[in-house]
Amino acid sequence: MTTSAKTTIATLRARKRERRKIAMITCYDYATARLMEEAGVDSLLVGDTYAEVCLGHSSTLPMTIEHLVTIAEAVRRGTPSTYLVGDMPYLSYQISPQEAIRNAGLFMAKAGCDCVKVEVDRRLVRTVEAMATATIPVMAHLGLKPQSIQALGGYKVQGKSADDALVLIEDAKMMEEAGAIALLLEAVPSEVAAIITESTTLPVIGIVSGPQCDGQVVVLHDMLGYGGGHPPRSVKQYAQLHDVLVNAFRTFSQEVKDATFPSAQHSVAMDPAEHKELRRRLSARGSDATSS
Ligand code: KIV
Repeated sequence: MTTSAKTTIATLRARKRERRKIAMITCYDYATARLMEEAGVDSLLVGDTYAEVCLGHSSTLPMTIEHLVTIAEAVRRGTPSTYLVGDMPYLSYQISPQEAIRNAGLFMAKAGCDCVKVEVDRRLVRTVEAMATATIPVMAHLGLKPQSIQALGGYKVQGKSADDALVLIEDAKMMEEAGAIALLLEAVPSEVAAIITESTTLPVIGIVSGPQCDGQVVVLHDMLGYGGGHPPRSVKQYAQLHDVLVNAFRTFSQEVKDATFPSAQHSVAMDPAEHKELRRRLSARGSDATSS
């Protein structure tokens, strides 16, 4: 097996300079992480979307830091080379800079993440600054912030008016000045995302934010067509796992009911001499075990 060179923030910065795009996917387990590493995905995000796509919650709010750190540890074991981002869940960084640093430290020291992601705007600039000072590499998530969904009044595109776009552009600048090492833009008009991407040396990863960002992130279950429901127009499906998996489960279920599974090929047999000897001993004991 060949080992790829470790992707670092320096790699991502160079990719921006060279205008070579960065591919990122959310990942929630060891086996999938291995496949992504094999496929050459640059960066994996252990996202709090786990609460929705794996746990069945209707928002990301119930996710806890302990749970996500355990998942990040598993993902890191599957992907030693990619750039691994730990997503700070709801209330793990908003309460105080001290708590933000302590919780981010779990992603960094326990799980071996390369950076942590926080959903921010200018109100959290001091927190980002404190984290950066404490040597925590921060990816600042701007635009649509799913942890603020109640305050935002729903999943809506952010920065649509000139006024709102200017605020977003200023927020991005403030995050860079506070020491963030990368930006993530969610649901921002392409034009605004392009301005932010061009005006910073930080790598900018987009999700539903147009083609000008330095990289793109997608949610695993959305891109695989896995998990049911109708995906929004903005989601591109690269596979339709739903049908593949339902067919496999249906066929297994039917074969068990028909008793066509397992066949001899999927069973283990005794050595015939041992089997004969077993039968002989059981009947010598007068046991009725052979007939039950
Ligand atoms: O948690 C997550 O999956 C995310 C993506 C939507 C970027 O934050």
